[in-house]
Amino acid sequence: MLSVPSRIFDHMKKVLVTGGAGFIGSHTVVELVLAGFEPIIVDDLRNSEERALDGIAKILGRTPTFHRLDCADAVAMDAVFRAEGAVHGVIHFAADKAVGESVANPMKYYRNNVGSLMNLLGVMDAHGVHRIVFSSSCTVYGQPDANPVTEDAPDRKAASPYGFTKVACEQMLRDQCHADRRLRAVLLRYFNPVGAHPSGHIGELPLGVPNNLVPYVTQTAAGLRDHLTVNGSDYATSDGSCVRDYIHVVDLAHAHVRALQWMEEHDPPVCEVFNIGTGNGNSVLEVIEEFRKVNNVDLPVVMGPRRAGDVESVYADTTKCRTVLGWQAERSLGDAMRDAWNWQLQLKR
Ligand code: NAD
Ligand code: WQD
Repeated sequence: MLSVPSRIFDHMKKVLVTGGAGFIGSHTVVELVLAGFEPIIVDDLRNSEERALDGIAKILGRTPTFHRLDCADAVAMDAVFRAEGAVHGVIHFAADKAVGESVANPMKYYRNNVGSLMNLLGVMDAHGVHRIVFSSSCTVYGQPDANPVTEDAPDRKAASPYGFTKVACEQMLRDQCHADRRLRAVLLRYFNPVGAHPSGHIGELPLGVPNNLVPYVTQTAAGLRDHLTVNGSDYATSDGSCVRDYIHVVDLAHAHVRALQWMEEHDPPVCEVFNIGTGNGNSVLEVIEEFRKVNNVDLPVVMGPRRAGDVESVYADTTKCRTVLGWQAERSLGDAMRDAWNWQLQLKR
């Protein structure tokens, strides 16, 4: 456990973290404290559990301030800003993120993902808060013409309502930054976040059958699933399976801290987008092999058909995040596979 005396929080800059009990949010809360900020979590736990807060407390030795509420609720959010006083900036993670569900229930996604950002910008403005870091996604690129993909590659027609909410929120932030010259925004396009905190106290908590590769790998290795199906082996990639850029969640959390610091360093205000990935493309089969190698654990794998809507290959050009933001990934795919397995083992206990 890291020792963070409570009085230290009295002097730290407050950062409101919507979705701070979720997978990426919980890791970012830890890194914020370690970097000298005071996170204020706003989350209604619709896709997370209070045990994430317990896990944060085990790592830091202190539970951060937590407001359980819907961040699309203007009255409740106004009360939070009032209660907290001076807020230095906001990191906005809160959103629904299941691609398939967004096709079946698009209104849920527009209401929450677009609605909560609209609400947040209004409340921030009313309270004189002018810094925001936004969770975007490489989904805005679809299948890019070339890899590694740069930030100025054209957005593709979104493959799902979820994807379109990210395109729409990015545009909303650009428009608002243009209209309000005090507003600073950093839009982080995450590639594929994986892994867990090395302590094993926080990690991803997928509800039901996971959609994403790495939780499916760990659950299969743990015997919770019969086998893992590789979704397609006839793509034009080195081994026929899809290629992605898997970024360790602790590295991703650091990128948010860096984004806040970067905004402080910049005057006049900025609205910038950054890829947050490793710059490496790894195939599904390589991920499985790495998992087996670093953990010395096997899992049953079968080859299956392509998954509808999958892009063949996408990985980040990291030039801009390295040279402009001053951030780069430090952890390997092996680190992520080890930490994801360690987390899975803690969950079983
Ligand atoms: P997550 O579901 O683990 O975390 C999101 C958190 O937000 C949850 O704790 C949920 O309870 C909360 N939440 C959702 N709507 C809310 C609302 N209206 N009010 C209060 N709390 C609310 O997801 P995550 O993987 O940590 O993703 C965080 C962000 O990153 C999301 O915006 C997601 O779209 C984006 N993103 C995720 C990935 C990924 O693969 N995980 C990739 C790219 C972008
Ligand atoms: C990775 C690869 C699968 C499970 C999704 C969202 C995207 C972003 C990140 C938020 C693919 C393959 C998976 C399995 C498999 N989220 N796979 N067997 O699809 O790159 O991105 O999460 O913004 O918007 O679409 O991630 O982890 O689902 O899949 O073969 O059991 O693993 O087909 O090729 P994806 P993923």
